[in-house]
Amino acid sequence: MTRITLRRPDDWHLHLRDGAMLKAMAPETARHFARAIIMPNLVPPVVTGDQAAAYRERILAALPGDTAFRPLMTLYLTEATDPADVVRAHADGLVTAVKLYPAGATTNSASGVRDFDKVRPVLDAMAEAGVPLCVHGEVVTPEVDIFDREAVFIDRILDPLRRATPGLRVVMEHITTRDGADYAMSGGPDLGATITTHHLVINRNHILVGGIKPHYYCLPVAKREEHRRALVAAATGGSGAVFLGTDSAPHSDPNKESACGCAGCFTATNTLSILAEVFEREGALDRLEAFASLNGPAFYRLPANEERITLEKGAPVDYPAKIETGEGPVTVFDPGFPLHWRVV
Ligand code: NCD
Ligand code: ZN
Repeated sequence: MTRITLRRPDDWHLHLRDGAMLKAMAPETARHFARAIIMPNLVPPVVTGDQAAAYRERILAALPGDTAFRPLMTLYLTEATDPADVVRAHADGLVTAVKLYPAGATTNSASGVRDFDKVRPVLDAMAEAGVPLCVHGEVVTPEVDIFDREAVFIDRILDPLRRATPGLRVVMEHITTRDGADYAMSGGPDLGATITTHHLVINRNHILVGGIKPHYYCLPVAKREEHRRALVAAATGGSGAVFLGTDSAPHSDPNKESACGCAGCFTATNTLSILAEVFEREGALDRLEAFASLNGPAFYRLPANEERITLEKGAPVDYPAKIETGEGPVTVFDPGFPLHWRVV
């Protein structure tokens, strides 16, 4: 096969940032994607419906004039979130989902949740109103090894939380383990999971062997090869429960290449070429559309995009090594192999 046509994909987990970074990043996603779930972990975070409306306007203003790209907004769940504000913002069509960060789990998560009992009224209201909860699924307990944090979160937090809130629709964001994939695929119609581009490509050796590679460091951190294999099997295996959420998370090079470097891989620019390569190797190119364009809208109860895009296989694709932004260069994720599929 040298040509494949799919419905225009969506990105169900994306960081666009704000200001000059937003201006540089928005076109990178809008070029190929129709919609994206926009993460709310700005400084300060997007907590209220009014803040989401203002951020949405800033995103629209940063987009190229000819684009039909639509940002789908999220609210950042805090222990002070007002259930009525969430339900109203969702009913108005302003907000698509709410994001739960355990406090301290990742970039700009300090305002996240420490005591899950405090957000019970919000979760109950969301279950009632059908508002999906996007979950960063890692415990932050210092005693728990960073490579075990996802599996422990499922047992200690996520499973009890779902049992206590029947009907709550949950997306496990950026799963990185076999445990996460197994749990997501056996959780019934109210549970889904996003998988990133980079977690289909790298394992923890890529970060640590032969010198430390800050541009492969993200959270949740990439795990052992057996877990990467499980993610590839889940993404290419035809389960409707998993869908693309790139978690493309730009940080400037100085902030990545540092003694205390930021977490995040920037994949918006070359994600579709990488995914085509990954799916082709598995003999699963015919399932790329389900992963990138169909399963996500089905979970979110939104129509799939009518527009199509075509990828063509040929000589290795050129993509920029870095994107210049007003806040310094951002390195584009290097999958470590040539990319032959280009979006035409
Ligand atoms: C994200 C970021 O930089 O905002 N970083 C990351 O490594 N994925 C935050 C997140 O999604 O955890
Ligand atoms: Zn993220």
